[in-house]
Amino acid sequence: MLVMLRAEQIVKRYGDLTVLKGVNLEVKKAEIVSIVGSSGAGKSTLLHILGTLDTPDSGAITIRDTRVDLLKPRALAVFRNTHIGFVFQFHHLLPEFSALENVCIPGWLAGTRKSAVEVRARQLLKSLGLAERADHKPHTLSGGEAQRVAVARALINQPDVVFADEPTGNLDSIRGKELHDLFLQLRADLGQTFVIVTHNEELAQMSDRVIHMKDGLVAEDGGIKDLPWASK
Ligand SMILES: Nc1ncnc2c1ncn2[C@@H]1O[C@H](COP(=O)(O)OP(=O)(O)O)[C@@H](O)[C@H]1O
Ligand SMILES: [Mg+2]
Repeated sequence: MLVMLRAEQIVKRYGDLTVLKGVNLEVKKAEIVSIVGSSGAGKSTLLHILGTLDTPDSGAITIRDTRVDLLKPRALAVFRNTHIGFVFQFHHLLPEFSALENVCIPGWLAGTRKSAVEVRARQLLKSLGLAERADHKPHTLSGGEAQRVAVARALINQPDVVFADEPTGNLDSIRGKELHDLFLQLRADLGQTFVIVTHNEELAQMSDRVIHMKDGLVAEDGGIKDLPWASK
């Protein structure tokens, strides 16, 4: 089974505080991994480092075949835009652009033909139940709709991994469950790989594997299972 993400001995310090103390983690293609743990355990720090938004003090991160910790800033920015998707607690959609444009922007930045990006963005919005919302500005969308647009934006360049930090943190429990159902559906339909930080144990249990972080280390790793859909 293809390994999409491998983190080896990740260490991160802020001044005297060692936030990550040698984290090891492996994620297979089409796997949905949830990271749980109490506030301050280092979950966001780890997710940002895995997603190349932050750099470790030591350790290696491989996404598919690329040692991302060795990339120079310009190459890293290109890699991040084309291989990694992000969904945060707040949707971070650009307010002056429509839902469709927000989804398209990472595709346009990647240099893909404008019309091809738009076709894919419309398809994504449709499959996420947002066809009627394509031309709406973010402030006219509900919280759940805006978060689904953010998911479509994360998927536009067909990333190797989508990282999500508390993606349901700003949604009620029904919308939160819907978002996790959507992640499961995207895994089934597209073989999409997800790494999700969440406070919600119930939602975490819907994923393939739950990783518990404690004091900057993986305290418990549910272990890699055989994933029947991962051969796609
Ligand atoms: N930029 C930073 N500077 C200093 N300390 C930080 C910074 N980011 C996070 N921390 C500290 O690192 C620890 C882990 O934070 P974080 O990864 O956000 O935890 P979690 O997401 O699990 O709640 C906390 O003690 C936090 O205060
Ligand atoms: Mg956090």
